[in-house]
Amino acid sequence: MSPSWLVYLSACLICCLVATTTVRGLPLQEDQDAKIDIPDGRIVGGYVTDIAQCPYQISLRYKGITTPQNAYSHRCGGSIISSNEVLTAAHCVIGTVPSQYKVVAGSNYRTGSDGVITSVKEIIMHEGYFSGAAYNNDVALLILDPPLPLNNFTIKAIQLASEPPLPGAISKISGWGTTSSGGTASDVLLAVDVPIVSNEVCNQDYEDFGDETYQITKEMLCAGKRGVGGADACQGDSGGPLVVRDQLYGVVSWGNRCALADYPGVYANVAELRSWIDVNRPAL
Ligand SMILES: *[C@@H]1O[C@H](CO)[C@@H](O)[C@H](O)[C@H]1NC(C)=O
Repeated sequence: MSPSWLVYLSACLICCLVATTTVRGLPLQEDQDAKIDIPDGRIVGGYVTDIAQCPYQISLRYKGITTPQNAYSHRCGGSIISSNEVLTAAHCVIGTVPSQYKVVAGSNYRTGSDGVITSVKEIIMHEGYFSGAAYNNDVALLILDPPLPLNNFTIKAIQLASEPPLPGAISKISGWGTTSSGGTASDVLLAVDVPIVSNEVCNQDYEDFGDETYQITKEMLCAGKRGVGGADACQGDSGGPLVVRDQLYGVVSWGNRCALADYPGVYANVAELRSWIDVNRPAL
């Protein structure tokens, strides 16, 4: 996981601004065109999986508003929560409009156009994003039109958790995050299994990280192999799922780089954000 670059192209100026203002902040969203020298990595320490094993996973494809001639390319992950709703991270979509996106479901490939492709009709971002702490309330709902044809095999909705996960529970995270800095991205869907870390312990791990705005709030949860490292989500995995026993508990959000032994990955806590999600879902 590494610096947050909501940067597309042209604006080296903006790159510089973002670079200096976000300190070591670090959403795991894939950097768009700009070849900035940031460390990134795919799902770290994971294994190749198949979309049938994570049928709720989608690839959120994006193009810059100033570059309509470009193809849509993978920006973030997300989870199907109903035929017309995807849950992703607020930092993936902040400052953008629905027409900049396509959602690809039922595909194993980051760059593929197999599977089902649909459009985003509306973006509902948590209005408390970044309030109280850096990257707090990092969730957004994407309303799809047309809805996805759920086949319950490669395209399937996942249930939202209503209780936070227990520390030590093994969670599965998945995505198409890229390989190491300057390296080539894996085009196939990867997953990794990591234990949940309690918020208390995680908050201690992040105590000396960044400035005082970096805290592990109750709207976040952590997962990682403490003291070991080597297994984590990374750049390009943002917005994607953290799942325990077939329920969605987390949304890939941020962290200090990726897979460090001393810094778990940080996720938006679905159970804690459940009331916001429920209130903001359009009536079916
Ligand atoms: C998939 O599951 C949903 C919810 O259980 C159900 O309503 C729908 O009919 C199923 N679709 C198929 C194609 O099996």
